[in-house]
Amino acid sequence: MACKKCSNKWSLAGVASVILVCAIGLVLGYMMLGVSQPGCKEDAVCRPDADMLDYLLSLGQISQRDGLLVTWYHAANSQKDMRAALEMCVLILTEEAGPRWQSQGDGLGLQCTPHPFLVHFANTLEQWLDAVWGPSSLGIKLDFKSIKAVGPSLDLLRRLTDAGKVRRPVWINADILKGPNVPISIQVNATQFLALVQEKYPEATLSPGWTTLYLPLFPKSTYTRAMIEKMQELVGALPQRVTFPVRAVMVRAAWPHFSWLLGQSDRYSLTLWQGVSDPVSVDDLLYIRDNCANHQIYYDLFEPVLSQFKQLAMNATRKRSYYSGGSLIPLLQLPGGDALSVEWQVPDIRGNATAATVQLSGKEGMILLNVSLQEPGAGDAVPVVYASGDSALALESCLLQLATHPGRWGVHLLIAEPSALRPALAMLAHLSNLSLLSLPVWVEATVSHGSFAVPGYVPGKELLTAVAEVFPHVTVALGWPEEVLDSGYEEQLLTDMLELSKGLWQPVSFQLQSGPLGRSKAGVVARLLAASPRATVTVQHSPWAGNYTSVREGLLAARAVDKTRVYYVLPQSYLEDLLADVGRN
Ligand SMILES: *[C@@H]1O[C@H](CO)[C@@H](O)[C@H](O)[C@H]1NC(C)=O
Ligand SMILES: *[C@@H]1O[C@H](CO)[C@@H](O)[C@H](O)[C@H]1NC(C)=O
Ligand SMILES: *[C@@H]1O[C@H](CO)[C@@H](O)[C@H](O)[C@H]1NC(C)=O
Ligand SMILES: *[C@@H]1O[C@H](CO)[C@@H](O)[C@H](O)[C@H]1NC(C)=O
Ligand SMILES: *[C@@H]1O[C@H](CO)[C@@H](O)[C@H](O)[C@H]1NC(C)=O
Ligand SMILES: *[C@@H]1O[C@H](CO)[C@@H](O)[C@H](O)[C@H]1NC(C)=O
Repeated sequence: MACKKCSNKWSLAGVASVILVCAIGLVLGYMMLGVSQPGCKEDAVCRPDADMLDYLLSLGQISQRDGLLVTWYHAANSQKDMRAALEMCVLILTEEAGPRWQSQGDGLGLQCTPHPFLVHFANTLEQWLDAVWGPSSLGIKLDFKSIKAVGPSLDLLRRLTDAGKVRRPVWINADILKGPNVPISIQVNATQFLALVQEKYPEATLSPGWTTLYLPLFPKSTYTRAMIEKMQELVGALPQRVTFPVRAVMVRAAWPHFSWLLGQSDRYSLTLWQGVSDPVSVDDLLYIRDNCANHQIYYDLFEPVLSQFKQLAMNATRKRSYYSGGSLIPLLQLPGGDALSVEWQVPDIRGNATAATVQLSGKEGMILLNVSLQEPGAGDAVPVVYASGDSALALESCLLQLATHPGRWGVHLLIAEPSALRPALAMLAHLSNLSLLSLPVWVEATVSHGSFAVPGYVPGKELLTAVAEVFPHVTVALGWPEEVLDSGYEEQLLTDMLELSKGLWQPVSFQLQSGPLGRSKAGVVARLLAASPRATVTVQHSPWAGNYTSVREGLLAARAVDKTRVYYVLPQSYLEDLLADVGRN
């Protein structure tokens, strides 16, 4: 009866404050009511603050740290999948019941989808957690719809945890910001929610979301940059792991913003969820998966989309599509992998302006293209890449050829002439519009600014404005003029460059020359990397910098600072020497 009563209240969800309790685990065909899972044994991961993937990995439920291997059970899943019946329960706490429960312990109702054996189970969150989660190895997610339910529930969790009963990751969810298409403020108060978690249950993984409304007539309306940045302001400085619940159908259109967000901290992940009638596209899901590490995304989706997506996602030979403004991970570098393994090459371009071919050796890497401007007498000046024999290939046809090239490639455009900057960016924008720019793109320029103001180079501010206005979806690679580097990278040069790049929305890679780097005081690389979590450094070698022995110290010092965020663009023999040195160390 309790169940029925609550069902009625559930239909009045507008006035009820609700806690949804979901479980995260694996579909185990044999998992039935009463079948116990082996208890969690490794203390390091059998904790509420553990990473969900580490936890499931330690239990042997998943074979690698991949969010796609995790299966979700909750009230909204299709009946057919709900063999593990208990996961379907939804706990409802009404406005009045919240405080009453706190004082009297009996204001909770339990709504269950039709599984008769559930009824005699728990009618409080406590018994429920005990009965449902005690014997299983599922993780827990508490989904709060009202701030009133948060305090008492966390108090209870605290008690259970202190009694050693919550030996699994706990996620705490609430929509705390106003999101896409939602005209009114119905979100949970962010300040209060975050403060309650810090006060009562800081070991939880936070799952802070945006309220959303999906309008099929306006499929492109989605999360905005302001919404994402507001969230980062709220949770950026918190110590917890954070998984942002995002409405899958709207994620691809906002991918540049989510790419930015995921780059802000390695505590972050996304949980894609699907509204009951959302037309989530498998292509969008594949795109999202291709553009981040496997452990950064959880998929809480319905069938048949989920199975179709899984099948395609696991196909290793599938053609992938990358965000041009994304990092080199996972395309060219494993998450947390060695940046020295990413190789740069200058392609061999043969032929003339109308029929040139771009030759690449190997299967993957960054392609360095030195871009200039060709004035064809009249009309628009065309950005070109010079080939051997002084002939030039239009940048456009160069990029189009690369798009069809087998292997895994990114491009690094070196803007040799300041006047080529805007035309080159416009070309990128044009190809991107036609979906023909599916690879990471770096745009490098030597800039003139502050203490390194030197005529003949692009003024730094102008570069940033052009990128923002013409085509913002690139990594910005910034270098100092060689004229100012006689005594290495001095303090003021660093300060001014950091000031210039401060607040840049794009990923930035600072371009250092190996020679001057060797003459600089220690700490240059570390200071530049500290600019932002997704800043990188690229150490380049110029012919005038001397032999390997003379730059060795600088290269090794840079590498000692960070192995994953310092790239090297070196001639082959230098690279081999460095690899040999690194192998020895
Ligand atoms: C959220 O709660 C805080 C603290 O109680 C309060 O100062 C603030 O005005 C509330 N914000 C909104 C949007 O209601
Ligand atoms: C994987 O994808 C490739 C390219 O789309 C396709 O040719 C191949 O049949 C797929 N393999 C499987 C096992 O689906
Ligand atoms: C460009 O090269 C192609 C093939 O190498 C040749 O057929 C064509 O005549 C050349 N065009 C010019 C303008 O030199
Ligand atoms: C790029 O090309 C210009 C001429 O177009 C040349 O002066 C410059 O040295 C080249 N830079 C590199 C790094 O190859
Ligand atoms: C790209 O497409 C948008 C709208 O579809 C259009 O406004 C813009 O001008 C296009 N940009 C380029 C460079 O083609
Ligand atoms: C490398 O250059 C340094 C200084 O320019 C010189 O003393 C040294 O002999 C050179 N080493 C080799 C192996 O050429």
